[in-house]
Amino acid sequence: MAKAADVYFAVDPWKIIEKGFNPAYSRVSESVFSLANENMGVRGYFDEGGCQDSLRGFYVNGVYDVEHIGRSYKGIIDKSHFMIPTAEWLGTCITVDGEKLELQQSNFSDFSRTLDMRAGTLERSFIWHTASGKDLKITFLRFLNMVNRERAYQRITLKACNFAGKVGFSSAVSFDIAHEGRGKCFWQDVKCEASKNSVMLKGRTLQSEQEVFAGAIVDVSATVDVKIAGKTAVVSCTLNLVQGQEIRADKRAVILFDGTEGELLWQNGLKAMDALGNETIEDALRIQREYWDAYWRTSDIQIDAAEEADEDAVTAEQQGIRFCSFQLAQTYSGGSMRHNIGAKGLTGEAYNGHAFWDTEACCLPFYLFTNPAAAKDLLLFRYNTLQNAIERAKMLDCKGACYPIATLNGDEACPLWQHASLQLQPSTAVAYGIWHYVHLTKDQEFLRQYGAEILLQIARFMASRVELGGKNGKYGYFGVMGPDEFHMMVNNNAYTNYMGMRTLAYAAEVLEQMRCEFSDQYAKLVQKTALDEDEIKDWMHIARNMYIPQDPEGLIEQHDGYFDLPHTDINAIPVNEFPLYEHWAYDRIYRSDMIKQPDVLMFLYLYNSSFTHQEKLINYDFYQPRTIHESSLSPAIHSILAAELDKMDEAIRFFGYATRLDLDNYNRNTREGLHITSIALAWVNIVYGFAGLRSDGEMLRFAPRLPDRWKRLQFSVIYQGRVILISMEPGKTSFRIESGEAVEVMIYNQLYTLDKNETMIDRQ
Ligand code: BGC
Repeated sequence: MAKAADVYFAVDPWKIIEKGFNPAYSRVSESVFSLANENMGVRGYFDEGGCQDSLRGFYVNGVYDVEHIGRSYKGIIDKSHFMIPTAEWLGTCITVDGEKLELQQSNFSDFSRTLDMRAGTLERSFIWHTASGKDLKITFLRFLNMVNRERAYQRITLKACNFAGKVGFSSAVSFDIAHEGRGKCFWQDVKCEASKNSVMLKGRTLQSEQEVFAGAIVDVSATVDVKIAGKTAVVSCTLNLVQGQEIRADKRAVILFDGTEGELLWQNGLKAMDALGNETIEDALRIQREYWDAYWRTSDIQIDAAEEADEDAVTAEQQGIRFCSFQLAQTYSGGSMRHNIGAKGLTGEAYNGHAFWDTEACCLPFYLFTNPAAAKDLLLFRYNTLQNAIERAKMLDCKGACYPIATLNGDEACPLWQHASLQLQPSTAVAYGIWHYVHLTKDQEFLRQYGAEILLQIARFMASRVELGGKNGKYGYFGVMGPDEFHMMVNNNAYTNYMGMRTLAYAAEVLEQMRCEFSDQYAKLVQKTALDEDEIKDWMHIARNMYIPQDPEGLIEQHDGYFDLPHTDINAIPVNEFPLYEHWAYDRIYRSDMIKQPDVLMFLYLYNSSFTHQEKLINYDFYQPRTIHESSLSPAIHSILAAELDKMDEAIRFFGYATRLDLDNYNRNTREGLHITSIALAWVNIVYGFAGLRSDGEMLRFAPRLPDRWKRLQFSVIYQGRVILISMEPGKTSFRIESGEAVEVMIYNQLYTLDKNETMIDRQ
């Protein structure tokens, strides 16, 4: 593996800690110290600014603007949309004797910054040594309410260490905030009002005309003055500090994006501020703590180090998996079909906030086994955007529905035609997601009401995009790009062919079953979609005759001509050449057998039970040394397959990479934001990798393989209304139903009935 960890943060099982401020690492830290509550997200930037390399990113889920690209060729999008930063509510200015606090210019000591994953808070503190010889200890605390998701909080604590006297303080809420990449502010018609210690603002985006309300109450024990200037409202005062005593400034903010606009939004905003009422920050902190306690009770993965193991290394793994779980649960926990999961969540402008095929291919298992209602909401997002996908297919001269590779609102937003037009994996991933959800939850009602219609339209698309190939006389996809984005415009990409085949077969099976068993609902669907029954026959015919390029030993060629490509020794690439997109000419990346991420291995993972051990082994051994993991989705898939193939050293190495991808900045691009969707795969890595869970058979299957350096691995999964607790120890694993009814599962290929008593299984 060519990638290496860049270790920076202190190791702790529940906290991410930065000791001392390193300006060269400031953007990476900002990403890592991001907070979110699904409704909004904020990078870990300094409230008071003064850091040169910084992205002041505060984002509200679903808030975006639009840009017109101009029409070029048919099928290439002419307008795109992108997430924009919204009302900045943390702005703070602190002055002493006319000197302004700005850490990169100021003299300070004892800097530390801590993300507490049990409390759901970010705290930063240091002692400022002013030019006039005063020492002021300052602590900034912030959090985003996980229960009342329009609420956000900041607490600033000041302590004069060696003086008594005045400190200037001001606190702002502002719509005057620029999108960094596009270099401009996307907020207009900003209305600002103030009353006593409260400020209220409302802004509208330039093109998408979305409206957001932002208000804050600033509680300080001093007389305040409020000023409104342009798109900003500022509350300021002079604080009188007594030596050795702490003084606090508490800010409670409301950021409301509820689909209303104008006066109605304004009134809703005022009501939401009223509702803050007497709830103090202490109350909110307690509720926040309770939320996270409940989350960890059901969703924690616990790892204990074996006696002879390097304890720090295992604690780093524990910290890594908790960080992934925390960040994912912050970003999306369901309840809204308006949102999906951005590849970078709400942690940066890179990828424009867009959601990708990652949601169904990578994130869904986490939700299926920890929060199935959220999994359903994610699929309903696709149902609600089906019409956008139907329009997109038409643009591509196809029928049915083509789901976007990158989107916030359902429209294709990727301006790179190679990705937007050639990647069919978003559509096949949605079909896979529906199958996986229904397979595990048995939610037939969802399937008939929503899933079947999506499947029908995706199958139509896949059938209209397929061609009969010349040399082999079978069907295949030509001019496509599979998951491996280092090979574009290829023919017979095995992933696309295989997933297309499974999609068509599944859609046909679902519709056929509906026709026989639920003829009324089927008839309505036929009428709504003008389905011709010959279409279903056609899909089955294509599926039966799809070309899968596999040799007699089982090795699958990634696409036509792949085996003839020149070889690149990926281990010879120096670490300072990552990310490759920044260091290698765009076209240079595409000229060899180096692959970005699993492609063949990806479908061997997704449809794991459909392939033999030998098929997995031969393909893993061939593709693993050619994979450079420039996609964060890559290492976990390798780890899972390596564990299955009993290559435990490799499995644990890839697991380290997958779980600490951002904490250790493996891909050298964490500064742009966190890899939220691959973070989901870290959870999958443990559960599918080391517990050997497989969810694509008739019943759940487990094949636990505990890494030697662990004494215990414990976690639980939710399955059809029951909670199964799994506790792995060297040589044995115990299974117990914590709540719900008994269930049959396969463990090391033998049938067991799990119930409330412990079932202990020896390692095989
Ligand atoms: C990967 C894609 C992925 C996207 C967003 C790209 O680097 O190649 O597979 O969908 O990132 O995570």
